[in-house]
Amino acid sequence: MTKTKTSNPLDVRIPYCRAETVHPKQHAFLCAWQREVLFGGATGPGKTIALAMAALQYVEVPKYSALLLRRTYKQLTEEGQLLDVMRSWLQGTDARFNETEAKWYFPSGATIQMGHLSSERDLENYSGPEYQFIGWDELTQFPEHHYKFLFTRLRRSKDLKVPLRMRAASNPGGIGHDWVKQRFMKERNHKRLFLSALIKDNPSLDPEEYADTLSELDPFTRQQMLYGDWDAEPPGAVLKREWFRRWSELPKGLKIFDSWDLTFGGDTGTSYVVGQKWGVRGADLYLIAQMRAQLDYTEQKKAVKAMAEMQDTPVIVLEDAAAARPITKDLKKSVPGLVLRKPEGGKLERIEAAAPTIEAGNLYLPETTYIDAPPGFEPTLTAELIQRITLVPSSAEWDEADALSQAVNYARSRRSSPDVSPGSVTRQSHWRS
Ligand SMILES: Nc1ncnc2c1ncn2[C@@H]1O[C@H](COP(=O)(O)OP(=O)(O)OP(=O)(O)O)[C@@H](O)[C@H]1O
Ligand SMILES: [Mg+2]
Repeated sequence: MTKTKTSNPLDVRIPYCRAETVHPKQHAFLCAWQREVLFGGATGPGKTIALAMAALQYVEVPKYSALLLRRTYKQLTEEGQLLDVMRSWLQGTDARFNETEAKWYFPSGATIQMGHLSSERDLENYSGPEYQFIGWDELTQFPEHHYKFLFTRLRRSKDLKVPLRMRAASNPGGIGHDWVKQRFMKERNHKRLFLSALIKDNPSLDPEEYADTLSELDPFTRQQMLYGDWDAEPPGAVLKREWFRRWSELPKGLKIFDSWDLTFGGDTGTSYVVGQKWGVRGADLYLIAQMRAQLDYTEQKKAVKAMAEMQDTPVIVLEDAAAARPITKDLKKSVPGLVLRKPEGGKLERIEAAAPTIEAGNLYLPETTYIDAPPGFEPTLTAELIQRITLVPSSAEWDEADALSQAVNYARSRRSSPDVSPGSVTRQSHWRS
């Protein structure tokens, strides 16, 4: 066991830690007495190392139990990330790693569970045990309800003399940007601390050299990464988060249709296919369901059918492109109501055309954490959808924005067509209530 030297007169004990020093901001993080602490705000100040150190602080106490989390297994295991750091410190010591459980066992009886949490199923893995330390690396990659849920697991028996600590580290950006900013910057209280740290707080890195490597990033991401700017806006963003309204109960009398962004790139799906089910009433559009997956040709046909069958759907809108003809022809045999629409202009022009409807407050997303999906398909996190579509055009992931702009522009064209007046259904109309 090592007692790590610190650059601060207040000594802090970190058994097993092999880092030679604890940098001052890391030290403040390790000494913080608050129940909840968020560390960082920018890239590189030593957040991951600080979390690993914090988890180790009480491993000499019998029954102490800690959990370290990343959103995905891959993120947990990459070089320099939590699992790798822990391994580099603990291998060859008297601590034992159980590969199957991904858990470190210490001679005291203490444990550190290394985990990932990307779905509701993963959450179940952590709903039984209790922990006195829960550490989240890159908190903005997690949805708020996962973070809040794990407070129920943060507890100890009376005789266990360790503090209860919820600890997180993060850069701005990511699906959780809004809730993390709200929680730690706007709703701070005496039990909740935001400890801001920048690259310059990590003497182990050369700040100028590191800043130079980040100069390749676009100005928005750079602003977030380098300066930990939580208020930075993506450049040229077409849609703003605050424009989206939310529905908790669908109004009656909706006219239903599906909007699809299919892919035609060959047999194995590499980019995402997105299907959305919309309900329209007057000028308002309600997103009812969405599926987003990488699918091959046959799977796409099944998906279109499954989405249509979720609910009686008289209209299914697809892009009328030459590459779409074979699948449309195939689908027509089994799915009624296919409507082919020639896209007007490029992707950017289409989303720009849809933007005023959204800015005017006519577009509603579900208030629920997840958006419904047809059976057999993963539901989408509502926060993730918002994150992806508000990054357009800087993001490479256009699929949902494409399906959405097609839906908004289609609904508008139907409203302005002579055979449809809001609320009425004519024989020629595609709509059906
Ligand atoms: N106390 C320390 N002693 C020695 N090296 C350290 C210390 N803290 C951090 N480092 C080193 O600095 C680098 C960055 O640390 P770390 O990965 O923890 O930063 P981060 O804030 O998590 O970065 P990112 O934003 O990329 O996730 C790593 O090479 C790490 O080993
Ligand atoms: Mg990190």
